[in-house]
Amino acid sequence: MARKMTDLHCHILPGIDDGAKNIDCSLALLREEKKQGVSSIMFTPHFNIEKISVADFVERRNNAYRILCENEEFQDMNIATKLAAEVYFSVTLDKEDLDGLCFGDSNYILIELPFHFKPHGLSYAIDNVINRGFTPILAHVERYDYVAKDPMILYDLISKGCLAHINAETLISSSSKSSMPMKYIKWGFVHFLCTDCHSIDRRPPNLEQGYDILKKKMGSECVDMMLENAQYIFKGQPIDLPDIKKPKSFLGNWI
Ligand SMILES: [Fe+2]
Repeated sequence: MARKMTDLHCHILPGIDDGAKNIDCSLALLREEKKQGVSSIMFTPHFNIEKISVADFVERRNNAYRILCENEEFQDMNIATKLAAEVYFSVTLDKEDLDGLCFGDSNYILIELPFHFKPHGLSYAIDNVINRGFTPILAHVERYDYVAKDPMILYDLISKGCLAHINAETLISSSSKSSMPMKYIKWGFVHFLCTDCHSIDRRPPNLEQGYDILKKKMGSECVDMMLENAQYIFKGQPIDLPDIKKPKSFLGNWI
């Protein structure tokens, strides 16, 4: 039986970021999501406070969503959808009105970190966001070089109360690359998988394959836990947090 899946990070809304260029591209992505068994989707277009105000972003995003909602094929797909954002980290993030960027009307907020350098004030800013009552979800934690070199950075963020996801693509194509994503999962740092899909050719929906591989590597219990986490988060509800393991450096390897 097909799994009932939830995608909490994707770039499907038409014409708003580097994801779907237009409504046809959006529909192609949605058809594939549906085919794979995805029944709930959080739309998370890129947001960067250096480039646009929260108010202007929300207006643009609502317009893109309206275009999609007026489409009959989308209406017939019967997919539950909500609005959010993939928020690029800024040390002043907590000074902004973050409500419009959260997952629906919940306090979950998806935060993307720089890929190649640990940002100044990371811990301080995340503390402030958490202290304001938000739960940061760290986007695709496997993509940050400095975290792979020093996973204690991620351990500290998860210990504070951050959640994290990895992209399904990482499991699908990681056989010859870093072993770190699987270590993050084993240490209890990863709460669910997402597609982060952008286009049907370049970065397509792939949750089905991602969870198939996760099942082979970690077993059905891990898959069921992540599927359930994603469903709860979509509904804005809390999840059961797994015990986490503190990484140790041994002979140049993190274990
Ligand atoms: Fe993304």
